Amino acid sequence: MTVQLAPGVHWVGVIDWNLRDFHGYLTEAGSTYNAYLILDEKITLIDTVKKELVPEMLARVAEIVDLEKIDYIVSNHVEMDHSGGLPETMARVKPEKVFCSPQGKAGLSRHYKEDWPFVEVKTGDELSLGRRTLTFLETPMLHWPDSMMTYLQEEELLFSSDAFGAHLASSERFDDRLPDHPEDYAHQLKKYYANILMPYGPLVTQLFDKIAKIGLSFKIIAPDHGLIYRRDPAWVLSLYQKWAAAVPEAKALVIYDTMWHSTEMLATALMEGLMDAGVEAQLHHLRSTHISDIITEVLDAGLLLIGSPTLNNNLFPTVSQFLTYLKGLRPRNKAAAAFGSFGWSGEAVKLINQELEAMKLKLAHEGLKVKYIPDPEELAAARKLGEQLAKENLGK
Ligand code: FEO
Repeated sequence: MTVQLAPGVHWVGVIDWNLRDFHGYLTEAGSTYNAYLILDEKITLIDTVKKELVPEMLARVAEIVDLEKIDYIVSNHVEMDHSGGLPETMARVKPEKVFCSPQGKAGLSRHYKEDWPFVEVKTGDELSLGRRTLTFLETPMLHWPDSMMTYLQEEELLFSSDAFGAHLASSERFDDRLPDHPEDYAHQLKKYYANILMPYGPLVTQLFDKIAKIGLSFKIIAPDHGLIYRRDPAWVLSLYQKWAAAVPEAKALVIYDTMWHSTEMLATALMEGLMDAGVEAQLHHLRSTHISDIITEVLDAGLLLIGSPTLNNNLFPTVSQFLTYLKGLRPRNKAAAAFGSFGWSGEAVKLINQELEAMKLKLAHEGLKVKYIPDPEELAAARKLGEQLAKENLGK
């Protein structure tokens, strides 16, 4: 199967139907690694796929053109879901040149220890393929320091690398059918943004400024994961603008783990209070909801209530893991508070508070601690606290 995005521009990627874990992110719907082939006077391959899947990609390319006829390879991103197939591709294709950012050259050299014919490109550099021209756009940290995008001027087609992608295996290559199921795809896009790009929201905003300054317009946006946008590229751009702005919604999450259900009783009482206040609220037990799914909800939440029992003077391990993951994703514009049951030493609330402060989140309360099992009065107070925190922090 070959698919054309524009005359002589082919999708030559691979669909990874069985992928369920992407460095810790639950990819319940699989993924794709999108690579693209441009037929011109200089035949050009944009990106590759994972190492173990590259035979499928090369077979797809070979349906269109002899591999030896490829002149150029553009490597937009070093991460191995896109470059893992480069060594085998290089050996089979032997291209004249490999175009990448300066950081891309450094990263690819460290990964593969090969003296490939690199050509470093920077933002605004152009490359004529004959009838058509590429423009390069460096996009550091979207998703790694080396990341860049490649724009095919004549088709107004942006090969956007990781940005605007989603982990979704599908027989659909394009967004044409999105009007039938936009929520499903928007959810996968949001999950991807939250787990991959949330720390870099300010850089996403800068990217939009850069695009406006250069004056690029898009008829097609072709990311390296998920669907290609040709029906409505503006749709995904508007979602990214919203997420990058990190404007919180009137939405609260109660995220917790529990040993003998006491912290869970507090979680449930806090949840009742949030609902009393009329805000959107969700309860997530850390051994029931995958952390990558919780992070999807964190993205636009305005209030996080995080609960842990004290275990051996410490946090419960799942709570510790969640806080480590959350801190790395640099959430912005949220209030947060801690809660938990304890037996004798009761360090958990203090330890959660330290993490929340390290994340520079607004500490909405000093923390709710209850010894052993909460009694009815303490549960009523927890419920009141949930309502109060929602009113104080979510404008309800
Ligand atoms: Fe799809 Fe950052 O790799």
